[in-house]
Amino acid sequence: MQMSTFPCILLLCAISLVTCHQRLVAESRTNVELFIKEISKVMSNSDPSGRNHSTKVTIAPHPPLSNVDVWRLLLHLKSEEIKTLTLTVDETQPSTQTEFIFEGNLVDSDSIFLQAMRDSIVVATAFLSMEIRDLQSNVAWVGSNETSHISSLRIVASEKVGVVSAGEQNCSTHESPCYIISPPDPKPDLIKRCISFYFGAQRTVNLCDERVTNFLEISPSPSLYLQDDGNLKVSFTYSHNATEIEVVVYDPEDHTKVFSNSSYRCLVSVSRIFQEGEAVSCTHNITVPEGQTRMVVLIVRTDEKGYVYDSSRLLFEGNPSKPCRTGVIVGAVVGSLLGVGIIATLIIIIVLRKRMKKKKRTDTKRGMTTSYSKAPTSE
Ligand SMILES: *[C@@H]1O[C@H](CO)[C@@H](O)[C@H](O)[C@H]1NC(C)=O
Ligand SMILES: *[C@@H]1O[C@H](CO)[C@@H](O)[C@H](O)[C@H]1NC(C)=O
Ligand SMILES: *[C@@H]1O[C@H](CO)[C@@H](O)[C@H](O)[C@H]1NC(C)=O
Ligand SMILES: *[C@@H]1O[C@H](CO)[C@@H](O)[C@H](O)[C@H]1NC(C)=O
Ligand SMILES: *[C@@H]1O[C@H](CO)[C@@H](O)[C@H](O)[C@H]1NC(C)=O
Ligand SMILES: *[C@@H]1O[C@H](CO)[C@@H](O)[C@H](O)[C@H]1NC(C)=O
Repeated sequence: MQMSTFPCILLLCAISLVTCHQRLVAESRTNVELFIKEISKVMSNSDPSGRNHSTKVTIAPHPPLSNVDVWRLLLHLKSEEIKTLTLTVDETQPSTQTEFIFEGNLVDSDSIFLQAMRDSIVVATAFLSMEIRDLQSNVAWVGSNETSHISSLRIVASEKVGVVSAGEQNCSTHESPCYIISPPDPKPDLIKRCISFYFGAQRTVNLCDERVTNFLEISPSPSLYLQDDGNLKVSFTYSHNATEIEVVVYDPEDHTKVFSNSSYRCLVSVSRIFQEGEAVSCTHNITVPEGQTRMVVLIVRTDEKGYVYDSSRLLFEGNPSKPCRTGVIVGAVVGSLLGVGIIATLIIIIVLRKRMKKKKRTDTKRGMTTSYSKAPTSE
């Protein structure tokens, strides 16, 4: 119907501007039908983790709507409940706006209504019956904040979304989680994960997620220890917020050289209930070539919903020609924690594995070393 009235309005405009205005007002007095093109989860200023977020709705071009003061998004939940998000606008001119950001979470729902209101009367509506579910594709900046050249991206490409593109690089479901180590500038600014719903040949509606979790540093900083068996032991303090841990070990000179087992899993040795703030350690399988003097260790903790909670980027430095030399970590932090008073010093001992096997050293202070471990220094 609007399709035929719009040219008519234009024609009237040509005749008289006054008539045109009246026609526009009359037009929007009737309930205009709107068409949703895209619904997306976007970051909100209130929560840098992205768990709480905003909902962006994009609609198809529509006739100008005048004096709309409120936009409403009604989400029909599975439980038959209705969640309402509102957006107050201040429009003096007839508006053709097509993008709206509602503060509030896009919760799982089965249908949605978008309504434009004037003085509490609905003047335009879009309705969509479609299964809105979380795409389970989380993206986060890890190791450092987004603005830093040493920050990396962790991407989960769920089965629902398939391949996720981040700038020049792609992440597919079977590779997930993917780590894009220190992406070059310009950094990918929009990493959009979408699925499409088809409503006949002409209409497609995208359901998207654009959120990227901000960086949060693990505090206190974890400590690292290279074990006799070549596995890396990571010690940290337990947090209910961060239940899973991943470790990525790579060459700082060549980011394509990743020494980690491709699952990046760091296995917590003892399975029991940990207390908040308690010291915990996990082991991570790495294959480091002989002669590798420096390694970056990226430690990433995720929560039970798969969001990255916090992360740290630590640098190992050692000298393989002097096998038992003690390494140094850049950015060492000494922390006392949550009243528990654990002092974690970042001391790393890099020892040639061969030598270690020969010496069969037993070190009682592995992991949370509070001082240099006594590594053999003689030949
Ligand atoms: C999300 O919002 C709810 C309600 O406003 C609040 O209780 C909760 O703490 C928030 N969560 C985060 C992670 O900010
Ligand atoms: C990001 O990190 C850099 C250094 O790593 C720091 O200078 C800057 O202030 C940080 N920015 C934010 C927004 O935290
Ligand atoms: C990434 O995927 C897009 C399409 O999804 C493709 O056009 C592009 O060539 C891929 N890039 C690489 C580096 O594989
Ligand atoms: C993390 O855990 C602390 C202590 O249990 C809690 O106060 C805080 O709200 C949690 N943060 C998030 C984002 O869940
Ligand atoms: C990764 O480690 C797991 C267990 O530690 C092992 O089963 C798997 O084969 C390893 N994968 C690679 C590629 O080494
Ligand atoms: C580490 O991985 C290697 C192969 O990648 C495997 O031979 C070794 O058993 C693994 N060690 C542990 C403790 O998982």
